[in-house]
Amino acid sequence: MMHRTFCLFFGLLGLVAPTASCFAQTVPRQKTLFDNDWKFHFGHAADPQQDFDFTVANIFSKSGKAVGTAIDPRFADSTWQTLQLPHDWAVQLPFVEVDNFDVMAHGYKPVGGLFPETSIGWYRKHFQVARADSGQRFVIEFDGVFRDSQIWLNGFYLGNHPSGYTGVAYDLTDYLRYGEANVLVVRVDATQYEGWFYEGAGIYRHVWLHQYDPLHIPLHGVFVHAKVEGPQAIVTVEASVENETDTPVEGTVAAYLLDRDGKRLAESKADFSALPAHDTQTVVQHLTLPTPHLWSLDDPYRYRMVTEIQRNNKVVDRVETRFGVRTIEITPDRGMFLNGQHVMLQGVNCHQDHAGVGSAVPDALQYYRIRLLKEMGVNAYRASHNPPTPELLDACDSLGMLVMDENRLLNSSPAYLQQLEDLIVRDRNHPSVFMWSIGNEEPSQTSAIGRRIAQTLLQKQRELDPTRTSTYAADLANVYKGINEVIPVRGFNYRHEGVAPYHADHPEQPLVGTEMGSTVTTRGIYVVDSIRGYVPDYDSTHPWWSSTAEAWWTEAAAHPYWMGGFIWTGFDYRGEPTPYAWPNINSHFGVMDVCGFPKNIYYYYQSWWTDEDVLHLTPHWNWPGREGQPIKVWVNTNAETVELFLNGKSLGTKTMPRNEHLEWMVPYQPGKLEAVALKDGRKIRKKMETTGAAYRIVLTPDRTTLTPDGRDATVLNVSVQDKKGREVPDAQHLIRFSLDGTGRMLGVGNGDPSSHEPDQCPDGQWQRHLFNGKCQLIVQAGTQPGTFTIGATAEGLKAASVVIQMP
Ligand code: GAL
Repeated sequence: MMHRTFCLFFGLLGLVAPTASCFAQTVPRQKTLFDNDWKFHFGHAADPQQDFDFTVANIFSKSGKAVGTAIDPRFADSTWQTLQLPHDWAVQLPFVEVDNFDVMAHGYKPVGGLFPETSIGWYRKHFQVARADSGQRFVIEFDGVFRDSQIWLNGFYLGNHPSGYTGVAYDLTDYLRYGEANVLVVRVDATQYEGWFYEGAGIYRHVWLHQYDPLHIPLHGVFVHAKVEGPQAIVTVEASVENETDTPVEGTVAAYLLDRDGKRLAESKADFSALPAHDTQTVVQHLTLPTPHLWSLDDPYRYRMVTEIQRNNKVVDRVETRFGVRTIEITPDRGMFLNGQHVMLQGVNCHQDHAGVGSAVPDALQYYRIRLLKEMGVNAYRASHNPPTPELLDACDSLGMLVMDENRLLNSSPAYLQQLEDLIVRDRNHPSVFMWSIGNEEPSQTSAIGRRIAQTLLQKQRELDPTRTSTYAADLANVYKGINEVIPVRGFNYRHEGVAPYHADHPEQPLVGTEMGSTVTTRGIYVVDSIRGYVPDYDSTHPWWSSTAEAWWTEAAAHPYWMGGFIWTGFDYRGEPTPYAWPNINSHFGVMDVCGFPKNIYYYYQSWWTDEDVLHLTPHWNWPGREGQPIKVWVNTNAETVELFLNGKSLGTKTMPRNEHLEWMVPYQPGKLEAVALKDGRKIRKKMETTGAAYRIVLTPDRTTLTPDGRDATVLNVSVQDKKGREVPDAQHLIRFSLDGTGRMLGVGNGDPSSHEPDQCPDGQWQRHLFNGKCQLIVQAGTQPGTFTIGATAEGLKAASVVIQMP
């Protein structure tokens, strides 16, 4: 297939008011969510019979031959489970104690080569396409399937996509039956891993059906980027036009630049002439945007670019692309600048799973997680170590969070180069994405092979996106060999003491802490418990290769050549239970736990990463039986001095060193521990009181109004209070949930890294223990307007309920 590029320049077009006629014509393009009503059944990786004879039937000898397998459109699947995507079957399986590194690293779930009976998933979806639409093209797009999917429509093989992290799309048009039942079948094979952390299993991201004219813009076929030049910005639109008709066509690509309210600010038109049958051209246009409203962390403003294909004065296709205008400057000696303003990267690494739902994260939960990070003072997110879910990037775009977007594997073979290409082409319109990462801690990193692979990947990146640069996350100190010789931005995983000598030796290379800190803590735990696998909730314990928060941040903050760094990690995630193993099933690295409940270290970062008044005391003050014994009290604050009082008696005043914390040893007496801090001449107070017994449940919903679309979701955090309304930090009650109405419970969690309680309760008996005073329920909206009520009860406690509205 030929691919040509037409380049045109259009000057300032002035401000044009939106006209009704602009979008009056009906455009056939449709993008339909394809998440509902999938049938699901486990196959089997070692027993062909239990795998619906997949490897027995000779399905590849003739096109469309599927007889005797679950691929056959006539196969009866009525006994299969019906479900809605996104779906992660791993999260629903029990935990298993198996002495195998990768099973441990993946969170002790029975998925992978050792578990043939729970590692193959079959999905089937029945759907209809109207006969009237038979002149259109139909494309199915999977945003992410973990992993190795094979896909058939009506028995015809569409293809195989091994990656569990990049999306894939197939044109269905040739195999459709109009006005009749069509059956899409997906076999998912999760017997192999791709990472060393929890990865989930199944169709865990959205699926979309696209329908458009044979003359159209292909998927991800628009690249919009802007260059700020003085008071204006030149916005470039590169739009691909694909002619899937059997004759050459002529036409026009129109580009309309709209502000957030839909007002047209600039427009441009370019002809494509004689686009041959079954050929694609890229039409490049430049639009001038006077006085651009820049995208920034505090004001994440986005414009919209509407790209239309017109033929014979008729609009045949239209694509809307959101984009932002911002500048990124990366220097080797002064760090990074966003729109000319210095930005120290206060970043976190994150994997994609959350409590209760695993990797099948509802869109609303992506926004919830990013909001939690922003409140902590985080301004950058590293999608470690794989292409993220598209909605995560939407959340970062719209809430103002920079993203380091990461490729899964450092490999330049065609298959992996394609993964990098899929990542970049999918994500390059997102203003939040400020840099690519081509890989992480590869064994070949210091070799000539590593260097050559990196060079190939970097070449590909520059070709697909000349507007950004790349880094690579090296677990190396002052080492300049292999990948580090060619990588534009040097990434450091840990080993922050190597940064200064490296900078002295290579002052021309910008550098960033791709993985920093990595304190291991268990929320609300204050003693080492190697049986249950808990680490104290102070910034003190870390693996040998890493450091405390305070150690790396004091170093980074003191040196302007650091672009900043990304904590390992923002949230706990499943798998990697370092420094323990079973019964631990999830990591301890998070600043927040798997539910997003802050650990004490959160307040260290929040003190130095925000301008808010932060004053936090560690630990809680419920220590029955420890009377008279010394308790280690830490204070995190960004105030100048702190005076600590126990039951009204001063324990002394201390001056707060910048980027550090304060400590007292306090002999325990029940009552009130209070800190009084001075900040900018103001007094700030924080007290920690010994509570009475738990009395009532408190349900705290993130949102009480949901869209009745069957997708929207909200988080309900659960805590308990004593009679005086004080939160009881060491309560461990079993909370039982009920739901009355048309919502759906999706998952529960409590942040306990050693809990083997189920995340989902398909028997309808939804429950979860509190872990040190907290647990969480995630609920999803129904499809009809109305309300539903969530109830929470526990033995001996006053119940709570919350009404969720779906107007
Ligand atoms: C790093 C690695 C991360 C994670 C972390 C655990 O070396 O890049 O993915 O495994 O160690 O400490």
